[in-house]
Amino acid sequence: MYLVRLIYTSRVSETFKSSDIEGILEVARGKNERNNVTGLLCFNRRFFLQCLEGSRAKVNQTYHQILNDPRHEEIVMLNYQEIISREFDRWNMGYMPESSLTYPINLKYSGTPEFDPYEMSGESAHQMMLALRDTVPIQ
Ligand SMILES: Cc1cc2nc3c(=O)[nH]c(=O)nc-3n(C[C@H](O)[C@H](O)[C@H](O)COP(=O)(O)O)c2cc1C
Repeated sequence: MYLVRLIYTSRVSETFKSSDIEGILEVARGKNERNNVTGLLCFNRRFFLQCLEGSRAKVNQTYHQILNDPRHEEIVMLNYQEIISREFDRWNMGYMPESSLTYPINLKYSGTPEFDPYEMSGESAHQMMLALRDTVPIQ
């Protein structure tokens, strides 16, 4: 069974309400636990940046469901790779809202301290999520 990592970005759609984030996390955590999917979701009220890791079949299945979710749009896959081991195995879906702590990390991996994953390469997005994992408390 191959392990893969998938990273995508998206922006909130008109139907998204700020209270939706709690429901998204609750469903994601429950389903990911059953599917042995792990990862991290970054969110700044405009953009999502999510990393999913797990078996190829389960990550692909999860991504297909996410693609069809009307709460976000303009979904762009930034990185898809076979991996040897997981990097976010502490979380079925860790959650990282934007905070002052994340600005220097955004600046390190993109052109500005603002969080805009559309302006990032796949590898920068991946490295930024690892930096967040290692420096900022994640729920
Ligand atoms: C930004 C975002 C991230 C999501 N992340 C996940 C996830 O990691 N795992 C998951 O199962 N569903 C995730 N969802 C929810 C799915 O899009 C979908 O609503 C859910 O899988 C449907 O589950 P159900 O058909 O069992 O009700 C996410 C949705 C959004 C908008």
